Amino acid sequence: MKAKITIDLNNTIDRIDPRIFGSFIEHLGRAVYGGIYEPAHNTADDMGFRQDVLELVKQLNIQIIRYPGGNFVSGYNWEDGIGERSKRPRKLELAWNSIETNEIGIDEFQEWTKRANSEVMMTVNLGTRGADEARNLVEYCNLNTDTYYANLRKQNGFEKPFNIKLWCLGNEMDGDWQIGYKKPLEYARLACETAKLMKLTDPSIELVACGSSGPLMPTFGEWERTVLRECYEHVDYISLHSYYGNPDQNSSEYLASSIDMDNFIKDTIHICDEIKAEKGSEKNIMLSFDEWNIWFHSKEQDKKIDRWQIAPPLLEDIYNVEDALVVGTLLITLLKNCDRVKVACLAQLVNVIAPIMTETGGRTWVQTIFYPFLHCSVHGRGIALQTKCNCDTYDTATKFNVPYLESIAVLNDNDDTITLFAVNRSLDNDCQLEISGFDGYSLQSHTVLTGKDLKQCNTADNPNAVIPYDTDTPMILSPHSWNMLIFSKS
Ligand code: AHR
Repeated sequence: MKAKITIDLNNTIDRIDPRIFGSFIEHLGRAVYGGIYEPAHNTADDMGFRQDVLELVKQLNIQIIRYPGGNFVSGYNWEDGIGERSKRPRKLELAWNSIETNEIGIDEFQEWTKRANSEVMMTVNLGTRGADEARNLVEYCNLNTDTYYANLRKQNGFEKPFNIKLWCLGNEMDGDWQIGYKKPLEYARLACETAKLMKLTDPSIELVACGSSGPLMPTFGEWERTVLRECYEHVDYISLHSYYGNPDQNSSEYLASSIDMDNFIKDTIHICDEIKAEKGSEKNIMLSFDEWNIWFHSKEQDKKIDRWQIAPPLLEDIYNVEDALVVGTLLITLLKNCDRVKVACLAQLVNVIAPIMTETGGRTWVQTIFYPFLHCSVHGRGIALQTKCNCDTYDTATKFNVPYLESIAVLNDNDDTITLFAVNRSLDNDCQLEISGFDGYSLQSHTVLTGKDLKQCNTADNPNAVIPYDTDTPMILSPHSWNMLIFSKS
């Protein structure tokens, strides 16, 4: 198979917001306890954070990390996680049927993100709580006033404000699984009033209103319209969440999942712009795709996990080659839409549907999906270029004309390189690349991630089963492969 990629350096999509390379740590399973934090581990630092995990997180060059949930946040009292550790309450955690010890809260987490060279994206509880607790949390985190919550932070040992800039107004409030689930107008009113109080407390923050928890939600569309009609001038972003999977073991269909993500993004943009026109507003609402990933491998095993444990091994999906390819196409889709998608979070980061895995008390290793994220986050910064691709297509049971090649080129104006990210969806055929518009640039490297078998994965015992390598057949994309080609000025 042949594919022709054409770019024009003057035909750009937009500058990529670095927050598109975000991730997510929820108080769920072993993400926090046994994941990022394990004081008894032999790599633990002075605050009990695992340095083996921190080193891998740092490699991923993550701009922002959403916290503390997720479904967890909708039943969470943030005050339980601050102050003297021995006095923090141990609580039933109803979102994931676990026990939360509150050993880690915002004080410790913001310190961990600093050590990870990242920033916190904070979510407030609009399930069981409301505007008052949210504005108190903004004061606690961001203000230097001589007032109760700002002083409480100082008493807890944090003289300087945390300066958290990006805040989510609740989590997945459209889903009936959510603690404190709401009808569209119920949420819209609460989000609007909460947004007002939070921005009165700190006008420099940016706010994300909950959009739909997926494009198949029965209220998708109605939800966004209702929320934006109430909140338009008080919020900056609307969220999108979506998880993909291959429960039917149909790889060709699965590899086309990014088309669903693209449609979800485009539909949401249309709705935002419809409300903009209705209001005659000057402002564009941007998109925060703050939960995306593959999630299906662990669903059956999780049903057997007993309730009321501390850090049970929940959502521990083990990812294979085809999952990494789908993650690659999802990343390309986010980059293609970077004129409106300004924030995105790979959900999640450690142990829970994660690129980084640990053994509690033991080893750590990286999953297949670690690599496409690493490549994009390190080499995909700069300006996304309109990337035209002529290639063969295929049909699936639900989609027509799926291109075998998914690709995006990014101009990195710091070092004047162009990086092409590409997935060959064909299960059987090589793809010979022909490119035009790269005049004055020559190929420096062509890195590939693939496997003999689509189901190959990494484990603690065999952590390097699926790793990227520099190919000796540059410009030829192997069947079912993720590719990163770097071109520099010749
Ligand atoms: O990321 C796992 C869960 O998925 C989150 O807690 C929730 O927001 C979503 O349904």
